[in-house]
Amino acid sequence: MSARLLCRSVRPIVSFPRAVRFESVWAGVQAGPPDPILGVTEAFKKDTDPRKINLGVGAYRDGNGKPYVLPSVREAEGHIFAEKLDKEYLPITGLPQFDQLAATLAYGENSAPLKEGRIAATQSISGTGALRIGGEFLARHYPGPKAIYVPTPTWGNHIPIFKNSGFEVKHYAYYDKNTCGLDFEGMVRDLKAAPENSIVLLHACAHNPTGVDPTQEQWRQLAEVMKEKKQFPFFDMAYQGFASGDADRDAYAVRYFVDQGFEIALSQSFAKNMGMYGERTGLFSLVTASPDEKSRVESQLKITVRPMISNPPLHGARIAARILSDPALKGQWLEELRGMSNRIQTMRSTLKNLLVNEYGSKRNWDHITNQIGMFAFLGISPEQVEKLVNEHHVYLTKDGRISVAGITEHNVKHLAESLAKVTA
Ligand SMILES: Cc1ncc(COP(=O)(O)O)c(C=O)c1O
Repeated sequence: MSARLLCRSVRPIVSFPRAVRFESVWAGVQAGPPDPILGVTEAFKKDTDPRKINLGVGAYRDGNGKPYVLPSVREAEGHIFAEKLDKEYLPITGLPQFDQLAATLAYGENSAPLKEGRIAATQSISGTGALRIGGEFLARHYPGPKAIYVPTPTWGNHIPIFKNSGFEVKHYAYYDKNTCGLDFEGMVRDLKAAPENSIVLLHACAHNPTGVDPTQEQWRQLAEVMKEKKQFPFFDMAYQGFASGDADRDAYAVRYFVDQGFEIALSQSFAKNMGMYGERTGLFSLVTASPDEKSRVESQLKITVRPMISNPPLHGARIAARILSDPALKGQWLEELRGMSNRIQTMRSTLKNLLVNEYGSKRNWDHITNQIGMFAFLGISPEQVEKLVNEHHVYLTKDGRISVAGITEHNVKHLAESLAKVTA
């Protein structure tokens, strides 16, 4: 008798209650909604039309639409492999050299709190992990209201990240549908209306999904408003250097708020600017008042991180530390970063020119070149998005967001022609 039959024959002898034997433990679990972005990719994969374009994914693609591993990252990896380093656990807060270098990249070489040893930091599972650590830490230790204000719209994951951390998520105005730009007045109005000491999540640069950022002058005004209301800025910086091609310029808001005396929280990611999406390399940091406060805060960060991930992953942190500590390699990386940002900016202007000059669109498409970073928020309706997908094989999220990184010289004409048609 086969083992399988034997098993069957003995089954009735085991005295499980009937209901347990025939109904799975998970029978009551309802299917959740599919992730909106992964859903776009699934639909794209099924499409057999050769003109199809996937503008859903938030990852950089080269001029041929292929994933791009930065040569500086490859070179750093080469050194690391050659050195045959061990694979021991990192400390709970990560690779100390990485923490220091990543914080310096964000806060700047001349940052007072950095020089004075007042920045508490821990390595994280990329930007998402940094936000999650920040959420948990603030939920436990922030003395003000347990609510966080996020822009409308914001990166979809912000909302569950902060809800799961125990926060009530509230919103402030951000995007103006009429101008496809910043609703600065609405933003100031809502921040002024928010209670004192509220936590406010700010996209440091290259706002996702809109690509719309405050100007430097507007950042200064926002700092004034938040100072008056004693609000606490939590900066999410997922695109440093990727937005403008200049890592210092993209850190303007973070550094300005710190210079103004704010004790900020900061989430950093090396997914986009080093193209290390799957390496999950990031940093969470907090500006504190003194080295003593920093060490107390860091001890609590350890207590937050330990039950989440025990300790963070090694490889990406080694790569980033290698690049940031070697002047030649860092220079090369900054050049590659500029290259990615320039290609995106070129695709923005090519798309706009084709829409207006070649396909005669009468709409104003200036926002395509005014917005920055990986995404463009086209300002089109869900029906127009549907037409792009169903009639033109152009895949994007329902809110009309496209990843400009997915546009190439080979597909930009088809995109422009399709966009002109659906918005005519
Ligand atoms: C605004 C924003 N924050 C955080 C992240 C987190 O990215 P990761 O966890 O891959 O670093 C992203 C990624 O798309 C983002 O757009």
